[in-house]
Amino acid sequence: MSFPTVRMRRLRKTAVLRDMLNQVCLKPSNIIYPIFVDETIKKPVEIESMPDYCRMPINQVAEEGKQALAQGVKGVIIFGIPAKKDEAGTSAFAKDGVVQKAIRELKKAHGDSLVIIGDVCLCEYMSHGHCGVVKDEEVQNDQTLELLGKIAVSQAEAGVDIVAPSAMMDGQVGAIREALDDAGFDQVPIMAYSAKYASAFYGPFREAAESTPRFGDRKSYQMSQGNPEEALREMKLDIAEGADMIMVKPALAYLDIISLAKANFEVPIVAYNVSGEYSLVKAASKKGWVDEKALTNEIITAIKRAGADLIITYHAKDLKSWLNVP
Ligand code: PBG
Repeated sequence: MSFPTVRMRRLRKTAVLRDMLNQVCLKPSNIIYPIFVDETIKKPVEIESMPDYCRMPINQVAEEGKQALAQGVKGVIIFGIPAKKDEAGTSAFAKDGVVQKAIRELKKAHGDSLVIIGDVCLCEYMSHGHCGVVKDEEVQNDQTLELLGKIAVSQAEAGVDIVAPSAMMDGQVGAIREALDDAGFDQVPIMAYSAKYASAFYGPFREAAESTPRFGDRKSYQMSQGNPEEALREMKLDIAEGADMIMVKPALAYLDIISLAKANFEVPIVAYNVSGEYSLVKAASKKGWVDEKALTNEIITAIKRAGADLIITYHAKDLKSWLNVP
């Protein structure tokens, strides 16, 4: 059957009808709020390339968790900016490291009502800004694994609910699983950054976390932009090594990869709507060139429609009032 018997516009006639028939349902509890915790500051400091977004002092994180919960958001992911960086990333697994302190503060304030996720990487803690141990200007895979295990265990000791390894070292999920299990943390799940592409969209994050590599780039460990099959291999390997959830990152330029992930695997799929995606929306909105709420709504809907179960986004705290969510 075709026009004029079929008229697609019949079902678009009123707002109520459109709402009834909307297939993508967004829930604030599917949204994760990223927090940058900076050990060196006493007050929030705005990140220049991420308008309206701040690095937070440790004494402010509990309040950030409270605000997230008030929006219906149930999860936060923590990134640390330490006072001291070195060539061994020691601040990343220190008992009193910035992330470990933030986790304790959040746990103390919110108990099990808030899911605390710890990003497990070294770039913010290494003086050279790479995600692993460097020798002769090369990132050493196997030496890095041991450190990633230590970071995960130290976060678990502080009370983290989920660890999220993002260094893109081969075997990192298995190494972290083993380290956690050996330390008695077999109940701590791993959210693996599995398909993490080498992307220009991370620029503002690196300003925020002071983690821009001092030399070279991350292309020898993060994925090449043109490769979907490689993403499938990465995801399959991470699941085999014990990943409880897998992530695709960035989100908007990789919606096809999110769809592939959803079609191929049974674990929950996480998408990271990264810093550069946020900054583009913010910059154009500040100029009055786009409608920030409408654009954000459309982007988050697209990521969900592509197949993401959970979405990490810097728009997290604004979404409840912006989206038509229950
Ligand atoms: C740490 C890490 C990065 C991001 C998340 N974890 C930076 C990078 O890989 O350079 C980027 C997140 C964003 O851009 O919002 N390795």
